[in-house]
Amino acid sequence: MGKSSRDKRDVFYRLAKEGNFRARSAYKLIQIDEEFDLFTGVFHVVDLCAAPGSWSQVVSQRLASDKNEGERAVKIVAVDLQAMAPLPGVVQIQGDITKKGTAEAIIEHFEGKSAHLVLCDGAPDVTGLPDFDEYVQAQLLLAAFNIATNVLVPEGTFLAKLFCGKDVLVLLSHLQKFFKEVVIAKPRTSRNSSIA
Ligand SMILES: C[S@@+](CC[C@H](N)C(=O)[O-])C[C@H]1O[C@@H](n2cnc3c(N)ncnc32)[C@H](O)[C@@H]1O
Repeated sequence: MGKSSRDKRDVFYRLAKEGNFRARSAYKLIQIDEEFDLFTGVFHVVDLCAAPGSWSQVVSQRLASDKNEGERAVKIVAVDLQAMAPLPGVVQIQGDITKKGTAEAIIEHFEGKSAHLVLCDGAPDVTGLPDFDEYVQAQLLLAAFNIATNVLVPEGTFLAKLFCGKDVLVLLSHLQKFFKEVVIAKPRTSRNSSIA
């Protein structure tokens, strides 16, 4: 069965269409938020590897409020290699998150460590060679972690996609050095065949 016919039968694909989300992955973030309450007290968010933008859509819906002024003013920065259609209230940076210049452009927006939440749904174009795909995905996670360590407030949250490959424990040990708590979650929306 081709990818598009499989996706069309997928309940989250249909929900995404009905909810006007740009991708079914919106529901991954929604489900993780239901479990971990990502957005309480959060006004400033970095969405890495954000295209086509469904996570940014969820974030802007969750943060929208007429009380968001001053310190509570909403700031959302979305970054991807690919151009994204504009989203109201979302600043977009087109760039490679593994490059210093992109990291610096993001950090500039969050001078003084002011992001409450850093998201990264980064995935390479998979080649089908598991070791290679896991390695490239791990580089995205490490690049996102580097950015998070520069922009997050103390007690801030970093949520990142992770391909559960053989180096997963090494990656987790890096994260555990910086964060008080590190949790692995697999939202129901994640396809059973997915290692993310
Ligand atoms: C699964 S998609 C993200 C979906 C997005 N969270 C959404 O909900 O619409 C993975 C994204 O990672 C991006 N990506 C892969 N490598 C990247 C890199 N080095 N720098 C920036 N973005 C990258 C891809 O361009 C792709 O848009």
